[in-house]
Amino acid sequence: MEKVRLQKFMADAGVASRRKSEELIAKGHVRVNNKVVTEMGVKVDHHDKVEVDGMPLETEKKRYILMYKPRGVISAVKDNKDRKVVTDLLKEDVEERVYPIGRLDYDTSGLLLLTNDGEFANHLMHPRYHVDKTYVAKIEGILTTEEIKKLEGGIKFKDYTSARAKVSVMSKDKKKNSSIVKIIIHEGHNHQVKNMFDAVGHKVEKLAREKYGFLTLDGLVSGKYRDLTRQEVAQLKSDNK
Ligand code: URA
Repeated sequence: MEKVRLQKFMADAGVASRRKSEELIAKGHVRVNNKVVTEMGVKVDHHDKVEVDGMPLETEKKRYILMYKPRGVISAVKDNKDRKVVTDLLKEDVEERVYPIGRLDYDTSGLLLLTNDGEFANHLMHPRYHVDKTYVAKIEGILTTEEIKKLEGGIKFKDYTSARAKVSVMSKDKKKNSSIVKIIIHEGHNHQVKNMFDAVGHKVEKLAREKYGFLTLDGLVSGKYRDLTRQEVAQLKSDNK
């Protein structure tokens, strides 16, 4: 990890916003390696001991993981019904307390990011940053041109209208009365894809997220994961300013 400004380090650790962290520093609430720091330019990394009002900060290394989530696993770090959660799939090589960025349903498979970098996670989840998510759905029935237009143009739900989407039919099976459809959306409302198809009268039978922004599942099998490269992390940060 590169050294970063103390106020950013504090913000990343969830203490407060950068601005509020600057105030805490200026008012003498922050100690670095046992010395009170009140000036701004100080840079730190996770080897430094940083305390706010005597409380040590989490100084975990930042970790960014791309997982191929299988079906039948909860996108969480804990489940109150004791079902399997995505962090159960991580091995001892991930000691950091990472958590999923957003959610995939229990019965949805595909690309899920996990991190312990709160600022990064908030950025990616904010609808303003428009990360395209590509899903492939097996649906009941065959979509009409009119239904595709509705899906692409925005569907009105009780609490939101879906933003523009891109829909392409990959295959149709008239005998089995089902189709495989690719849909790209950039929001992340609960059950959004299933609800969108439901709204035009087609039940989703199976759903997978194949891409998240420019990231794909290439090289991974279900249940496995890898660290993002530095370049991928940098690109996600800069694509989403
Ligand atoms: N939309 C859904 O309906 N489910 C998911 O898991 C993701 C997007």
